[in-house]
Amino acid sequence: MKDHSNLDTATAVIHAGQHPDPTFGGVSMPIYQSSTFVFKDAAQGAARFAGREDGYIYTRIGNPTTKAFEDNIAYLEHGYGGLATATGMAALSTLLMALLDKDAHIIGTDAVYGPSRMLVEVFFAKFGVEYDYVDTSDLDAIKACIRPNTRVLFVETPANPTMSISDIRACAELAHEHGITFMVDNTFASPILQNPLDLGADIVYHSVTKFINGHSDICGGVIVPKTKELFDQIKKSLVYNGGTMDPHQSWLALRGVKSLALRVDKSQENAIKLAKYLEEHSKIAWVNYPGLPSHPQYELAKQQMRGPGSLLCFGLKGGFAAGEILINSMNLAALAVSLGGLESLIQHPASMTHAGVPREKREQAGITDDLVRISVGCESYEDQRADLEQALNKVD
Ligand SMILES: Cc1ncc(COP(=O)(O)O)c(C=O)c1O
Repeated sequence: MKDHSNLDTATAVIHAGQHPDPTFGGVSMPIYQSSTFVFKDAAQGAARFAGREDGYIYTRIGNPTTKAFEDNIAYLEHGYGGLATATGMAALSTLLMALLDKDAHIIGTDAVYGPSRMLVEVFFAKFGVEYDYVDTSDLDAIKACIRPNTRVLFVETPANPTMSISDIRACAELAHEHGITFMVDNTFASPILQNPLDLGADIVYHSVTKFINGHSDICGGVIVPKTKELFDQIKKSLVYNGGTMDPHQSWLALRGVKSLALRVDKSQENAIKLAKYLEEHSKIAWVNYPGLPSHPQYELAKQQMRGPGSLLCFGLKGGFAAGEILINSMNLAALAVSLGGLESLIQHPASMTHAGVPREKREQAGITDDLVRISVGCESYEDQRADLEQALNKVD
């Protein structure tokens, strides 16, 4: 195996965790599309199950293609190891099953991806789990909810869809003072722009469906804990609940991640220009983008992120009625949920991704009816701006 230590991020996305196929020398990691692996004899089978010998057993427990992807992301996130999951939601449910006990309490960001919140409020609550979803950009709001049974602090930053930013370092210190495990959903930033483990988080996870894969052709998730102890605990939860990533999916994710640095750079460059264009437009009421000085946590974003990313949200002066005309009139940006792909996507969270969150909770979290979210893609900026301009021209 080649030495892949100390690679720059732009190199690591292409090489980390990947080694030429030992059988035929293929440069691209092969897809080990096999559900199970042969033991040479009974003693070897027993040794692998007992953990005395490395090697593969069964794809739900581990697979070479999936392992290459897991190693790649663990390298990018500076963690102990990676655990790839079927979807981002499978990553979250795996984590919650591993970390919460009956009657435990969890604190989360109020503006998280809707189903991430509803998973706790609808399902984990059935087993006695208690929760508080608060504005985690406000440390005092977190402090006020800490209880003796608080086990997990769960922050999404930047948050979906408001782009609100929480202070990862301060959250980690607060959580650790109280013996609480601190995890970060890093989907919006990707490992190119933010490494929560370096800022004190215990666990980072992603919806791979988004930037990491980047081609809007698979769903997936990945978890990277900081320590072996957490890794072993979460791996057990994943192997037992079975939400693992499939080998073909892992191969597509590996192929996608190779261009992650290039895609993040290009889409961010476009987003910075589009955010300024929108902020100056007479029909736009407000824009929330961490790269604009008007963003409430602009300075914090500069400290903990290597760039503001390519997601932004805004409201039109004409409210949702005007927003509806706008999103229906876009030619290039597709009216679709999801984000982080090569193509620009536009959507209305209150009636789409966050429709499952009751209106009162949604509004408290800043997910207002006029909020429109854009995931800026890698098309040419001129075409993106022209698309928005022709759509804005249709708004009264
Ligand atoms: C920030 C964030 N986390 C998690 C998820 C869930 O990921 P998946 O759709 O891959 O299950 C999403 C999906 O949109 C998301 O935006």
